[in-house]
Amino acid sequence: MEGIRTLIGEAEIAARVEALAAEIAQRIPDDFVVVGLLKGAAVFVADLSRALYRAGARPEFEFMRLSSYGLAKVSSGEVHLLGDIPIDLAGRRVLLVDDIVDTGRSIAHAAALLHERGVGEIWTCALLDKPARREVTADVDFVGFTIEDVFVAGYGIDYAEKCRYLPYIGIVD
Ligand code: IMP
Ligand code: MG
Repeated sequence: MEGIRTLIGEAEIAARVEALAAEIAQRIPDDFVVVGLLKGAAVFVADLSRALYRAGARPEFEFMRLSSYGLAKVSSGEVHLLGDIPIDLAGRRVLLVDDIVDTGRSIAHAAALLHERGVGEIWTCALLDKPARREVTADVDFVGFTIEDVFVAGYGIDYAEKCRYLPYIGIVD
């Protein structure tokens, strides 16, 4: 696609998702809930949940929607809850899943919210991690790929709401 350079191809993503799921299934005792952060993590959760099944896990899944970038490439620094989980997760094991951990605000905010609600134990997972951009402490237990400070799109991740449909992850120039 014009203006997009491939960073991580389809086959590479698929292989990493499979390995990540095996790692997760080993570490988290079964009976856990995958909580994906919309909209960016939707494609990743769809693939990850089926890879988890192949790895022997049988997770439920839920979604939460947070606001972040809007139409800009730079985060506003404020995270708002736009859509909540309709069920009580008190005492449950949760795997919180996002597409990218950048400043760390989104995943830290979501984890804090779940803690407040008495979730039993939380693990975090991100397909991509940009540690160079971190502004708040955010522990990510499972990372797909660690990348440089580049703006990416594809595989569910958008640039101004475009490119989510790309089957690969590319750098937006
Ligand atoms: P954080 O709250 O700064 O960690 O940002 C996390 C969110 O920002 C991710 O869930 C993404 O939706 C978005 N984001 C961060 N980096 C990128 C990028 O390179 N491209 C598109 N969205 C991004
Ligand atoms: Mg996001």
